[in-house]
Parts: sequence; structure tokens; C-alpha cells
Amino acid sequence: MHRLDKRAGHCADAILKARDIHVVSHIDADGLTSAAIICIALERAGREYSVEFVRQLDVSILEGIADSNPDLTVFTDLGSGMLDQIKALGISAVISDHHIPAGDCPTHLNPHVFNINGAYEISGAGTTFLLARALGDNNDLAGLAVVGAVGDLQHVKHGKLTGINRQIVSLGRRSGVLHCQRDLTLFGKQTRPVYKMLQYSSDPYIPGLSGNEDACINFLKGVGLRFQGEGWFKWIDLTVEEKKNIVSGLIQYCISAGIPAYKIERLVGEVYTLPREREGTETRDASEYSTLLNATARYDRAKTGLAVCMGDRDKEYENAIHLLAEHRRNLVEGINLVKSQGMVTLDNFQYFDAGSKIKDTIVGIVAGMSVSSVGNRNLPVIAFADTDDGVKVSGRGNYDLVRKGLNLGVSLNTAAQAVGGMGGGHDIAAGATIPKEAKSEFIKHLDQIIGSQLRSS
Ligand code: C5P
Ligand code: C5P
Ligand code: ZN
Repeated sequence: MHRLDKRAGHCADAILKARDIHVVSHIDADGLTSAAIICIALERAGREYSVEFVRQLDVSILEGIADSNPDLTVFTDLGSGMLDQIKALGISAVISDHHIPAGDCPTHLNPHVFNINGAYEISGAGTTFLLARALGDNNDLAGLAVVGAVGDLQHVKHGKLTGINRQIVSLGRRSGVLHCQRDLTLFGKQTRPVYKMLQYSSDPYIPGLSGNEDACINFLKGVGLRFQGEGWFKWIDLTVEEKKNIVSGLIQYCISAGIPAYKIERLVGEVYTLPREREGTETRDASEYSTLLNATARYDRAKTGLAVCMGDRDKEYENAIHLLAEHRRNLVEGINLVKSQGMVTLDNFQYFDAGSKIKDTIVGIVAGMSVSSVGNRNLPVIAFADTDDGVKVSGRGNYDLVRKGLNLGVSLNTAAQAVGGMGGGHDIAAGATIPKEAKSEFIKHLDQIIGSQLRSS
């Protein structure tokens, strides 16, 4: 038995002893799927619970929880950075998280404690799935765990899920809730016409095709794709032969366009589908599902996303689909803003300041997407966006930089603390909130810290 499972057992014991349980989770796809996994497991175990979603944990939120004093609070996809404060306030807690932790305790379920990397080997939904397994027969929740991991881009490093995520994939396949295969990695295989998949491709960004509808249609005609009147085919409607032709045509195109090999390789990878979901809908594809969830929780509509995760395919699903259209528009606008505004390049990172033009809850996604189209790959991207209580900072790197010593979780945390803010996350992606007037000082600190990280290896 893995040591993480043993720890999950301790956490499950604490849960089964409690009468009233409060779940606190994060407002993204991984946070929503984490919450759904624990809520379903609690329902199955006949337990009462309440749920709350937060952008990030801070002391005032913890004080509110301490005041309402539930028997037990289960923190999912967050909490590991605040263990001391949770303890100090006397909150009885189980913490199921995968961010770089500050400390440890017996009811803390976090891969880093066992030397497992929470950026790609297991997500918050994954740790919570282990917890659900310790609570009962919940292997069928592996599909949600994979949606959470894919939402956190954990499959990107190796082109497939690895580590404990791999074991979760196996459990999901055995339970009949998950299917995986090597396929084109572009977004929208269930729901978009194929030419739109190409047109909106941002990772990899394909010069000449990305953003150019006519070029995409011509490219598809060129590789012999038949068009059916006005009704454009989706990827799932194509024959195996047609898919092969498009993939090899795309690879050829990218080679002739001089796109570097590491980017071309990303065109094909393992993709995850949920066979119990209706074909041609967002929830059938793990990646589309996670974007649907982000379209709810990041816009203060987490309860809609949670309902979808817990099986609603009716009213709340419709609501989520409406929110998705708006989310897509916001992402396109965000990327366009970064393209027109450009990045400021310092010695050790590049940054853009979106002011109030990009919502703080999606500026990290925009930062990640802009790396492949506008950024310089040799430097991490840092994004700033105004919020009501200061400035939101989001950092995104890549695995070449991590190999050179980059750890954004540590550097954003240190630089933020130095100016009276707070931050944390993973080596490859992290965030922070800092006081408005501290931006230039923060930038100076961060440039220096990232510089020493990159020189350390
Ligand atoms: O809070 P959380 O752990 O759920 O979020 C992880 C973040 O890291 C996600 O926003 C994800 O997009 C980002 N990430 C990334 N590139 C990777 C891995 C993760 O941008 N290769
Ligand atoms: O908000 P953003 O998407 O940039 O967050 C990137 C990663 O950093 C996520 O894993 C998020 O949970 C984490 N983060 C954190 N503390 C913060 C802000 C973000 O741990 N104050
Ligand atoms: Zn997460």
C-alpha cells in the first residue's frame, strides 16, 4: 500500500468520526472536481456536508470557518500553504492538496510530503480521489479525478498522465468510466468543427493556421477531407483514415513551417474521454470538460460547475454552456490584449500588466496561453491584473526552465512575502497577491530571486 493511501486512511477515519462536515475548495476545474469527489463520497457514506469555494485561502476566510466551528473542515485543492494558521485557529481539518506545502500534520494528504511532485504526478482531485477510496467503493470517481488533473495540465509534461495519475487512469478504465488513447491533442474534438480546432489552436500555436479560418479550410481540403455541405465535420465524426491523413499532413506542415520539434511532438499525445457521457458534448472529453468547469467557477458560479460534476445535465449544464461562450470570448480578448500590448522583458522574466482589462481569475490561463504565441520561451511569463484587494500575479514557466532551477511557487511566495503579500503554487505555475503600491518593488525582488534560481543548477 502506498504511503499516500495510508495517510488517506487516517484522513478518512477523521471524516467518519465527524457529524457535520464543511468542504472548502478552489475555484478552478481541479478544485471543482475535488469538491465533487468528496461530496459524492460523503453522500454515499450518508454524511451531511456544506460546501464553499474560494479564490485562495487567507486568514480572514479561516477566521470565518473557525467562528462557524464545524466538526471538521475538509480543504481540497488548497490549504497546504496555511497549515500553521489552520492549526493556530483551532480548526479541526483534513487537507487534501497538491501545492507545495508549508509543514505537515497527520490529516494532511499531499504528495510533496512523500516526495511526489504535485505539479504533474497527482492533482487535488487525485488526492481527494484517494481519500474517497478510503471512504468507500468510489473507483468510479476516477473520471472526475482525471478531469481535475487535465484541468491543471498535468498531462503536458510527458504527453500523458504519469505517476499516481497513471494508477488513477487504470482504476478509471477498469471501472468503465475512462477511456484513453493516443490522438491529436488539439482542443475541441467533441464539439468543434475540425477547421475550428485548427483555427483556435494555441498550444502548439501553428503560424499560418492558428487564427486563420480560410487557411485551415484550405489545409483540410488539401489533405483530402470531404466537406458535408454546410455541416462541418467534428473530429469524432471522422474515419480513422481521415484522422491519420490530417495528423500526418499537420506534422508535414509544421516541419516545413520550421516549427521546432518539441512543439510538433505536442500535436499528438494521450487523450482522455469519459465514455459514459453523451458523445459530442463537452463532458465527454476531459480537456473540454475542464474548460467548461473553469467557465463557471472562475466567474463566481462554482455551484453551477459543482452541480455538473455531480451529474446535472439539465439546467445547470445549460447554464455552464452559456458561461462557456463568455469564457471563450474573454480568453480570446485576453490573448489579443497581450499580443497588442506586448511583454516587458527583464533579465530573468518577461511580464505584462493587464490592469483591469483581464479578470484576475483568468489572467493565469491567459499567461499560460500567451507563452506559446507571443512569449520568449527562455523566460517565464509573469502577469499582473488588478483586483479589489491588491494586484493578482500569475506566473507560468516551462519544463526546460524548471530543469534549469526555476521554481515559481517558491519565488513568487518569497517575493510576495517580502512586500507584504502572499503567494505559492508549483514549480512550473504559481500565483500571488500583492499590495497595489508594491508592484515595482515586487518586480525587483522577483527578478533577483528567479535569477538566482536559474543560476543555481
Ligand atoms: O491551483 P492549481 O494547482 O489547481 O493550478 C495549477 C495551474 O498550473 C493551472 O492553472 C495550470 O494551468 C498550470 N500549469 C501550467 N503548465 C503546466 C502545468 C500546470 O500552466 N505544465
Ligand atoms: O492563479 P493562478 O492560476 O496563476 O495560480 C497558479 C497556481 O498557483 C495554482 O496552482 C494556484 O493554486 C497557486 N496559487 C497559490 N497561492 C496564491 C495564488 C495562486 O498557491 N496566492
Ligand atoms: Zn489543483
